[in-house]
Amino acid sequence: MTNTSDQNRVLIFDTTLRDGEQSPGATMTHEEKLEIAEMLDDMGVDIIEAGFPIASEGDFRAVKEIAERSKNSVICGLSRANFKDIDRCWEAVKHAGKPRIHTFIGTSPLHRQIPNLTQDEMADRIHETVSHARNLCEDVQWSPMDATRTEWDYLCRVVEIAIKAGATTINIPDTVGYSAPEESANIIRGLIEQVPGASDVIFATHCHNDLGMATANSLAAVAGGARQIECTINGLGERAGNTALEEVVMALKVRHDIMPWSTGIDTTKIMAISRRVSTVSGFPVQFNKAIVGKNAFAHESGIHQDGMLKNPENFEIMKPSDVGLAASSLPLGKHSGRAALRDKLETLGFEVGDNQLKDVFVRFKDLADRKKEVFDDDILALMRVSETTD
Ligand code: KIV
Ligand code: ZN
Repeated sequence: MTNTSDQNRVLIFDTTLRDGEQSPGATMTHEEKLEIAEMLDDMGVDIIEAGFPIASEGDFRAVKEIAERSKNSVICGLSRANFKDIDRCWEAVKHAGKPRIHTFIGTSPLHRQIPNLTQDEMADRIHETVSHARNLCEDVQWSPMDATRTEWDYLCRVVEIAIKAGATTINIPDTVGYSAPEESANIIRGLIEQVPGASDVIFATHCHNDLGMATANSLAAVAGGARQIECTINGLGERAGNTALEEVVMALKVRHDIMPWSTGIDTTKIMAISRRVSTVSGFPVQFNKAIVGKNAFAHESGIHQDGMLKNPENFEIMKPSDVGLAASSLPLGKHSGRAALRDKLETLGFEVGDNQLKDVFVRFKDLADRKKEVFDDDILALMRVSETTD
């Protein structure tokens, strides 16, 4: 079981290989899944949700092999609320040093209509299935899917039943990304205050990004008392995706002054896994994506480039090396100024006086007006022209 006596430690539960892989078109091969799981384990992810073993033979094999190879992380598999799913899940995860069964059922009025169960029938089903999982495994996570659209009294009732049946982690999914930060905090806080037995379990937050609030909602839930964040690399996931691991981890690191919680993630491994997940899933990372986008540490405008050259803290709140990037970049474009051009010329081995810089700068601006980005080869060509016309 994963527990920690440190009240401020937040567990990171990565579901790239389960919820992330569920994104249309994001399927990964068996070998790619093993590779990503190894990278997650290596970077300090506390719990890896490796797949949904009943979903397919391939998913079962991947979860089993990830479990067999796991080093430090808890290996978790997903199962619906029935014995067959749970047994299959256990068959796959039991090979891990630290196995976990995660079982869920949709508890909101809309989702209750799918299996067509009354509130009482669903409550019985939760009791039976969580007890069954707990008889197999001492680490059991239970999720009321669509929790944030479930009636409050019923949510409290089913969470209490799951705890009594032996769940050790209660995950509160915002399945359709409907919640807002204050509400996310209040839901977790309210459950901890009102549900008997709540202090014996860990509360988790699992947010989707339909309204672009997944990171804010996850951090708010932690403020409300959640001590496990469920997330994926690059925010990969159904529809608009899940909470992005790199965002919550770096937010907690950079703003530790106002969010006094910490994770066990080695943040210097973020960039490598982001790139690998993008490649194997075939999902490009948007250029301006927080933390891992191509432009996250790039500065084009003259004022920013000048400020960066004087002191990177002028325009960067974290060091590129904190996330495993060698250096920031100052791409040259039409907004760039003389300071960045001089800096570029120096890195290319040119020492220019003020007059020559003035001349090259005029030619550079002319070129930059015609091109989106001016590359090293362009600068070398400009210098050749400048030197021959001297
Ligand atoms: O979003 C969701 O509700 C889920 C559950 C299966 C936890 O992914
Ligand atoms: Zn989800």
